Amino acid sequence: MKIHHAFFVLVLALALWPWSPQARPLEEEPTLRQLADAKGIVFGTAVGDSFWGIDKRYQATVKRDFNTIVAEYHMKFGKLHPRPIEFEWRFADSIMRFADEQGMKVRGHCLLWHKEAGWLEKVNYSRDSLMFLIHRAIDSIVGRYRGKIPQWDVVNEAISNKTDSLYRDTFLFRKLGIDYIDSAFRWARAADSSVKLYYNEYGNEALGLKSQKTYDFLKGLKERGVPVDGIGLQCHFDNDSVPDLDSIAANMKRLAELDLDIALTEVDYRLSFPVDSAKLAKQKENYRDLMKVCLENSRCKTFLVWGVNDSTSWVRPYFKNRGAPLLFNNDYAAKPAYYGIWEALAGRPNAIGQGLRIRRVQGKPTAKALNQRKINGALELAPPSRTRIHVPTR
Ligand code: G3I
Repeated sequence: MKIHHAFFVLVLALALWPWSPQARPLEEEPTLRQLADAKGIVFGTAVGDSFWGIDKRYQATVKRDFNTIVAEYHMKFGKLHPRPIEFEWRFADSIMRFADEQGMKVRGHCLLWHKEAGWLEKVNYSRDSLMFLIHRAIDSIVGRYRGKIPQWDVVNEAISNKTDSLYRDTFLFRKLGIDYIDSAFRWARAADSSVKLYYNEYGNEALGLKSQKTYDFLKGLKERGVPVDGIGLQCHFDNDSVPDLDSIAANMKRLAELDLDIALTEVDYRLSFPVDSAKLAKQKENYRDLMKVCLENSRCKTFLVWGVNDSTSWVRPYFKNRGAPLLFNNDYAAKPAYYGIWEALAGRPNAIGQGLRIRRVQGKPTAKALNQRKINGALELAPPSRTRIHVPTR
């Protein structure tokens, strides 16, 4: 009887042993950060309030898959400079510290934006006082992070959406004309000779009226000797109506011919609800193809998504019946969009993204990782089986 029992235990043990279908372990699939680093691409995400939240998955995702972060809100004029004689550095310093600890970079966003100018708009300052206050703020902010921030959005969204005007009708333009733009770039350059200075805009990605105005505006800056180094194309897109890729490529080409670096600064593709696998598949193609357009232009070395995961995106409260715009879903599971970027950077499909089972390579995946389920169409990691699942970790 004992022999039978021992034989049964042996068979059971062999049956449960985590065999892998491959004799040799597959190479570990690199993270997006590793792929971007290998290609010399600044690949980042915007971080907002959740950066200081209790969900550890937020920062874990940031440091695993991105090499750059940008403050979605906490490094804007109104937040950094809440009162005329006061600066609030805590949040910005915390982001800088995290980046330094994680070997990441911080992209500066944004020194001047009429929507986040705080008290500057509320008090009826004279032209000279306004210019003095802006100069002092740029000096203080850019100077504090001198040599630590490689790119700053100096001015954000100053071009008009209207057909009959070049500049947006803001309090800055009404009071200062375009002098504030030229001066802001010059003051930022004076505060940090190493930083790349960008103009950042939306709706200027493909050829058209707004991109023509942006091009003419930038050409004017260059002709006046204003120290502008790059153009930010925000790339906030609706997944159902994306601009023609050839048109984006042509626009990027002519901007590069102005001797400008090109940054895709706030990429997201918002989906209509209900989200389904077809929309997610289209979103994957959109992210993949946009990254490819960037990689095909030698001046496009910066690609940031505007948020870490769907539930922390700005899109949901802003657009009715739109959401799920990012690479990770509400539970921080990689969506098809993640694998779209991955494929563009790696030049091949990702094994997990293909639903293949791959051998446990290192470490013991957490129970949570092994139990990740298809949520909002996020790819299910191969179902728990004798083959362990590799979860990219940094
Ligand atoms: O941090 C406070 C929090 O303490 C408070 O409880 C909460 C409720 O009042 O507000 C929080 O601040 C909000 C902040 O986002 C952080 O969530 C601000 O009110 C809100 O105005 C701010 O919105 C940001 C918006 O820019 C305005 O600065 C969005 O997150 C951000 O995604 C959006 O980003 C802009 C880019 O800078 C420029 N391009 C367009 C893009 C989308 O609008």
